[in-house]
Amino acid sequence: MCGIVGYIGGEQAAPILLNGLTKLEYRGYDSAGIAVFDGREIRMEKVSGRLQRLKEATGNGAALPGTIGIGHTRWATHGSPSDTNAHPHFNKDRSIVVVHNGIIENYVRLKQHLEKHGYEFVSETDTEVLAHLLDYYYGRTKNPLSALCRVMQKVEGSYALGILFKDYPDTIYAARKDSPLIVGSSRDGNFIASDVPAILQYTRDVFYMENEEIAVLTRDVVSFYSMDEEPVEKSPVHIDWDVNAAEKGGYEHFLLKEIYEQPRAVRDTLSPRIRGGQIVIEELGMSDEEIRSIDKIMIVACGSAYHTGVMAKYIFEGVARVPVEVDLASEYRYRDPIFGARTLVIVVSQSGETADSLAALRESRAHGQKVLGIVNVVGSSIAREADNVMYTWAGPEISVATTKAYSAQLAAFYLLAMKFGQARGALEDSVFSEMLASLEKLPDQMEEILKNRESIQRFANRYLAAEHIFFIGRGIDYAISMEGSLKLKEISYIHSEAYAAGELKHGTISLIEEGTLVVAVATQEKLYLKMTSNIEEVKTRGAFVMALTNEGNKDIEKVSDFTLYVPETNRYFAGSLAIIPLQLFAYYVSLGRGLDVDKPRNLAKSVTVE
Ligand code: M6R
Repeated sequence: MCGIVGYIGGEQAAPILLNGLTKLEYRGYDSAGIAVFDGREIRMEKVSGRLQRLKEATGNGAALPGTIGIGHTRWATHGSPSDTNAHPHFNKDRSIVVVHNGIIENYVRLKQHLEKHGYEFVSETDTEVLAHLLDYYYGRTKNPLSALCRVMQKVEGSYALGILFKDYPDTIYAARKDSPLIVGSSRDGNFIASDVPAILQYTRDVFYMENEEIAVLTRDVVSFYSMDEEPVEKSPVHIDWDVNAAEKGGYEHFLLKEIYEQPRAVRDTLSPRIRGGQIVIEELGMSDEEIRSIDKIMIVACGSAYHTGVMAKYIFEGVARVPVEVDLASEYRYRDPIFGARTLVIVVSQSGETADSLAALRESRAHGQKVLGIVNVVGSSIAREADNVMYTWAGPEISVATTKAYSAQLAAFYLLAMKFGQARGALEDSVFSEMLASLEKLPDQMEEILKNRESIQRFANRYLAAEHIFFIGRGIDYAISMEGSLKLKEISYIHSEAYAAGELKHGTISLIEEGTLVVAVATQEKLYLKMTSNIEEVKTRGAFVMALTNEGNKDIEKVSDFTLYVPETNRYFAGSLAIIPLQLFAYYVSLGRGLDVDKPRNLAKSVTVE
């Protein structure tokens, strides 16, 4: 996600800001900018593309004098990557300037309100709303802290903010809610940053800001406030990490960090689209009548994104009673698919640049089909070329093996399927409400599972030398098995296969021998008994069975050698919970085998060749 740095002290700010932003490059970005106050005016430089361009444009910062400033690397969410959309953003008379990380969910409403009061917008971002809203309340309160509190009361969504007011040339204002922000303090000045690496060179004394807290930084003093303008007492933490560990937020690998970011990724993908007990997907660009008229959905993707499509088929068909075909993009583009009169093609991609998926999109559009992209990278090729795009808000994914983008894609599919189910009259209101309640609980349940990683690590350590591991499941659990198996293959290099549990006996069961590990996924209550039989079948042939099931399903425990439980949720959402232990299992096997977890051999994060 975006990176924020701010500095106030005795040194020239711009080089420190650029240096800090460089340390945040690992977070991913598509544009960058800084604003520095030189005592007379706030001067800004911002460019799309790499940070190097910003360094060149400012002579490594030399062109911007001043000892107070804020900087930003942007990872586009609202509005494509461009100079104009890059941060910082000014108010109308350039007396207030803002950098922001996060998503302002109610920005459309706020923008309309501000436009009525004569404010004009120059960018497509949600962030610009904040600059004008601060202006609006500063005009009324004449007090930056009060204005900021009023803004925080009005905005919905997530934010980390760095703000300069021209009337207060020796103060940085900062605030956060659900996006990270820290404050660093040293004898030579004070800092704000999205993450520790940005300021580690200057200080190791850091205050971690809590949700809905405000920081006010002068050169010598840092003060904290609540949203009620009440002072908050905080103590600094001394950071011992080296720079490498700091980039990973203290986690050993990006993969583990991203596994732990999943509740946030799912929450960010769901919450802007759930309003007043309804699902609102504006970017779908389809009326309920159009949704009703769809005769078929074709989901096309590669790898893990394809696995979300396999899962989505069960959900769309169950919840919205619409037929779904799921294709690997590399097959679809050459198979001459038969479209219905009103088919919706959905192309799913984290990167938005996967060559086969992009080709499938173009093929579909060439046949006059409407294409919806489910994409994580804003402004990517698939996002640009699709008729409509629904973004997953997972943030930049650095580890090659996907985790949080996969989970965010599932969340997007849940919303779509429920929206379709309701519009098509296939989902009763009471069922819809129950599902919505379960959906909103998912991120918290994911957090619960993540608290219990030690037992998975211990279990994984027993299988470091395995040659083959099988994953079996039925229905949605088969789709989960496919992703669990791919994760293991990708990062542990252990041969693994996912099988529909009922299909094993038609051939593959011949591979089961004494001690073969079989991971049996059983989250679907109506299939418990069938899964129990399949577990018995492989155990009879010597398999060691690890079962992954819902809390309370003690029957599976009786027939399995080792059982992991996940909390109960609506059956259609079980994949979001069950995948977490499988991701952790793959991670710990890879770790135990001493492999390069984040950059597995032969794999690329974005596959832009056929
Ligand atoms: O960027 P995309 O989602 O289009 O990428 C698709 C696949 O290449 C990707 O999911 C791949 O399978 C990952 N390495 C899985 O971890």
